[in-house]
Amino acid sequence: MTDDVLVVHGGTPLEGRIRVRGAKNLVSKAMVAALLGDTPSRLFDVPRIRDVEVVRGLLGLHGVKVTDGTEDGELVFDPSNVESASTDQINVHAGSSRIPILFCGPLLHRLGHAFIPDLGGCHIGPRPIDFHLQALREFGATVDKTPEGLHLSAPNGLHGTKFALPYPSVGATEQVLLTAVMAEGVTELRNAAVEPEIIDLICILQKMGAIIKVHTDRVIEIQGVKKLHGYTHRPIPDRIEAASWAAAALATRGHVEVLGAQQADMMTFLNIFRSVGGEYEVTDARPPKLGDPGQEGGIRFWHPGGELNAVALETDVHPGFMTDWQQPLVVALTQARGLSIVHETVYEQRLGYTEALNTMGANIQVYRDCLGGTPCRFGRRNFKHSAVIAGPSKLHAADLVIPDLRAGFSHLIAALAAEGTSRVYGVDLINRGYEDFEAKLSDLGAHVERP
Ligand code: EPU
Repeated sequence: MTDDVLVVHGGTPLEGRIRVRGAKNLVSKAMVAALLGDTPSRLFDVPRIRDVEVVRGLLGLHGVKVTDGTEDGELVFDPSNVESASTDQINVHAGSSRIPILFCGPLLHRLGHAFIPDLGGCHIGPRPIDFHLQALREFGATVDKTPEGLHLSAPNGLHGTKFALPYPSVGATEQVLLTAVMAEGVTELRNAAVEPEIIDLICILQKMGAIIKVHTDRVIEIQGVKKLHGYTHRPIPDRIEAASWAAAALATRGHVEVLGAQQADMMTFLNIFRSVGGEYEVTDARPPKLGDPGQEGGIRFWHPGGELNAVALETDVHPGFMTDWQQPLVVALTQARGLSIVHETVYEQRLGYTEALNTMGANIQVYRDCLGGTPCRFGRRNFKHSAVIAGPSKLHAADLVIPDLRAGFSHLIAALAAEGTSRVYGVDLINRGYEDFEAKLSDLGAHVERP
């Protein structure tokens, strides 16, 4: 733990320009989709983050040759020799990511069986996989849970099904998509998640030869096909990372341009950002033409001076305010005048990180009630899932231990906003989802160092 610490000398506004690449929560799924093709796939703008390494390792174990392409951030996947891997080899990746669960459908299609290690990912609640397993059984898979992991097989093949998710889960929707595209017959998924990352995954599958209709009211219809081929795809940019840097600009009274950030995928965030008192300007991308080098699109975010406003917000599935935007923004809300309310409705235990902010001088109370909005499924279940943030509070330096990815980034922002020198332990966790974050911090003028 001691060498995994960042010393942060806070109190300096972040100023400058950084770039975000392909969305972590799409890129990793696009890599899994490559397993379904019978020819190579090519993915651009892949960030150098830990989740990508885990999926790359798992693909390699299953015979998919993954190589770097000619462009920086380009990966090429050759699935012509998909093969089984031993449980011991696969278990090396146990606990490191939640993506392995999405290998179920593609491996069942390619090999007739699959072994999935114990999952990891961030500890932000129990994070069950019951929807995934229920969906796979609906397709005709048998699931055997053992202490070492999940063994799945499909002795009679996989067949299209009509299925409604109890909640519009992102992962379970992806599970259904990756399974239904090559299942025999038609699948109708109701109460599906429709996050931009899911729509982008659908675009990839469509490029591969899939037939997928996205109807209104969260209904997705998939017509199974016998064969899929490889894809070439440039993914949507990471809107969670973009919002994290925007929140950092606001909390440190700075000015950050996020190249690659896309307005359409961040509309809900931008509305809240403006209500809090932050300013932003969108620059549209312009393709190069003769005599004109063109322009990369992005969004510039800044603190205009003066005081910030308290807001009430509720996290929700798309098109609501993303749960992953919540933690970074709360740091900025500690600087707003009045009482802000945050009702977390996606995860039951995603406010624990506020304790660390309180040790730095913030005034945040968490409640079991559904505050400030409509009742959610956690309301009567004893989870502290609403927060009231009283501000503005002067933040002071502290020693912090990072609990999970997004909360970790919020700790980092708090340390950057606070007066004095903080030590942030466990920063390596941030590399799971934020590419080159230390280099980006330096580019933005942050005073950070490894001891
Ligand atoms: N849920 C169940 N059963 C299931 C699946 C989900 O009860 O079988 C519940 C979860 O416990 C949670 C809710 O449904 O309360 C939503 O979970 P969802 O399945 O949508 O989340 P996920 O697919 O596991 C992805 C992202 C998360 C992001 C959520 C919500 C990836 C790899 N992860 O998780 O991202 O918060 O969707 O948008 O795509 C992150 O990037 O830091 C992160 C946690």
